[in-house]
Amino acid sequence: MSEIQLLVDFHQAGERQGPGSPEETRKALALIGFDEKEYLKAADIGCGTGAQTITLAQQINGHITAIDLFPEFLERLDQRARELGLSNKITTRKQSMDELQFGEGELDLIWSEGAIYNIGFETGIKQWRRFLKTGGYLAVSELSWISGSRPAELEQYWQEAYPEIDTVSNKIGALERNGYTPVAHFILPPYCWIDHYFRPMQQRFPQFLEQHNYADAVKAFIENEQQEIRMYEQYKDYYSYGFYIARKG
Ligand SMILES: C[S@@+](CC[C@H](N)C(=O)[O-])C[C@H]1O[C@@H](n2cnc3c(N)ncnc32)[C@H](O)[C@@H]1O
Repeated sequence: MSEIQLLVDFHQAGERQGPGSPEETRKALALIGFDEKEYLKAADIGCGTGAQTITLAQQINGHITAIDLFPEFLERLDQRARELGLSNKITTRKQSMDELQFGEGELDLIWSEGAIYNIGFETGIKQWRRFLKTGGYLAVSELSWISGSRPAELEQYWQEAYPEIDTVSNKIGALERNGYTPVAHFILPPYCWIDHYFRPMQQRFPQFLEQHNYADAVKAFIENEQQEIRMYEQYKDYYSYGFYIARKG
């Protein structure tokens, strides 16, 4: 099994595939302050198994196109939507986030939690802007430094894993440079990482290992995930996801 297949196989059983929580999704939506009567056309990019898609669908009057590269994740989202009676508000679409097929100015809202890093924050916000109406909103969470300085070991780890990690002020600057008006931002608190992402993963590790007969590739995959958890536990005062909300100016 390839590394990608392992990753999909492991993460499809998860409630979510990155840090976040229903509370933070609702908070970001509340900061936009849509009129409840307004019918919204939204996209959730890199939706995974759709934790935030479901929360959004429960909150907004409108329709969400949920996009991900992996059909296994989308099937889970479809199943959840059916169980919750939300299928009429969510359409899943297998597509790459750098080849989105929306019309110019088609969307009132582009949502993306913990996913834009796959094409890079600045590339993503640039490419996606044309799909938003003038006055439409972007709500995106992105790995960010939350302190002015940081230990060298940590800096090196993230420079290798995601060199576009940057300070909150530089992320806001990127939004301004690319035709957005920043509206609000906040930082995901530790429970979004620990309770909603890392602990559920750790609970699934033993069964995943057993299921794959303790194969070396699976052990290496799990060790990699554990390393990410250890880094966060040690250095959580220095980085998190920033949730950035901006309007197309
Ligand atoms: C860290 S996960 C976040 C998932 C979900 N938004 C959440 O917060 O639980 C990143 C997601 O981006 C998806 N992804 C990766 N590359 C992609 C691409 N090029 N186009 C669309 N989705 C992609 C992955 O399959 C994964 O579901």
